[in-house]
Amino acid sequence: MQEMSLIKQDPIIADIIARETERQSNEIELIASENYTSLAVRIALGSILTNKYSEGYPAKRYYGGNTIIDEVELLAIERAKELFSAEHVNVQALSGSPANAAVYMAFLEPGDKVLGLRLDHGGHLSHGHSVNFSGRLYNFVQYGVDPETGMIDMAEVRRVALEEKPKMIVAGFSAYSREIDWDGFKAIADEIGAFTFADIAHIAGLIAGKQIANPVPIFDVVSTTTHKTLRGPRGAIIMCKEKYAKQVNRAVFPGMQGGPHDNVTAAKAVAFGEALKPEFQEYSRQIISNAKALAQSLINKGYGIVSGGTDNHLLVVDLSVLNIGGKEAEQALEAVGISVSRSTIPNDPKPPLNPSGVRLGTPAVTTRGMKEIEMEKIASFIDRALKGKDDVRVLTEIKAEVKSLCQEFPLSL
Ligand SMILES: Cc1ncc(COP(=O)(O)O)c(C=O)c1O
Repeated sequence: MQEMSLIKQDPIIADIIARETERQSNEIELIASENYTSLAVRIALGSILTNKYSEGYPAKRYYGGNTIIDEVELLAIERAKELFSAEHVNVQALSGSPANAAVYMAFLEPGDKVLGLRLDHGGHLSHGHSVNFSGRLYNFVQYGVDPETGMIDMAEVRRVALEEKPKMIVAGFSAYSREIDWDGFKAIADEIGAFTFADIAHIAGLIAGKQIANPVPIFDVVSTTTHKTLRGPRGAIIMCKEKYAKQVNRAVFPGMQGGPHDNVTAAKAVAFGEALKPEFQEYSRQIISNAKALAQSLINKGYGIVSGGTDNHLLVVDLSVLNIGGKEAEQALEAVGISVSRSTIPNDPKPPLNPSGVRLGTPAVTTRGMKEIEMEKIASFIDRALKGKDDVRVLTEIKAEVKSLCQEFPLSL
């Protein structure tokens, strides 16, 4: 019905959406930060809540007509609190980077010193990279992973923290496949009186699904996107101790943003409701089991995996063994209908635009219902496509096999 009216009104956009729907249906999505939302999430996103302006917070708005919108926001807050055992939640942040900007604004002054994980060791741009607002506004110092193990070395984090005495320590990542020692970070921060900030954008769904330890009860403040393992709409939330509630809310609005996107808030509430169901725990368990199976199948084929494996939904594959770069690998895999993202490996000798690795993640294929056996098939597609990247016949053959596997696990549209 809604689709019909879009086709009538704007056939060009309708056609683009139809083609993207077909692409998503027939291709294997291994980008660790992506997922397929439920129809319920998308209905909330496309709802008339998008028409409303609601600057402010429930019962304290700067616009009239917000009584019903207040119900949406309060429900999203309640569900997020239950999901993460949070004392306070702000559900208005528009996306991960603006959420992190609000966290810094709430706890720091420009120029303050912050300690975060290096981008090329798995951190995120908003954890202090020089091209990002975070690196420009704040004085970031960084820790990396151990060159031998590929894992965060807490003794090294402590050494840098004691030497630099940052006002805040950031724990979190975009491309790190091991569990984080939240208590260890907290203990180090306590030694120097620093704030603790966890960015769980990647692993929030695994935490909500009770497969990975939860930093929310331990840390001062935690941000997460809602669209990765959490399988909600594009957006973010910020959770903190009650004593920081006011400063966090003030940093989001009026500090960073104007009106919240109420349709997105409703879709976040729907996703949190889905994540509160017992099935979500099984889903999260399967994501990790699939990532381990994918890593093992690639190891069996001779590939290196940074840190030797994974405890979460992602793995970083070191392509040095094939002597090809991450960009070429990304392109060869795209040619067969497999989406991945190029990635640096720690202390990468290659440049960031064509680094030595690719990052793979299993949230989206797990949403489709794929299991360990399909991960073996996917590892074989990857291996054959990378080795046959210059042979059109091989690539065409694999593309057909990828499509046929996808058709066994249709998306619920
Ligand atoms: C750890 C982490 N923080 C923040 C972000 C930024 O999120 P967004 O792309 O929604 O701004 C990402 C996105 O990849 C991320 O991985």
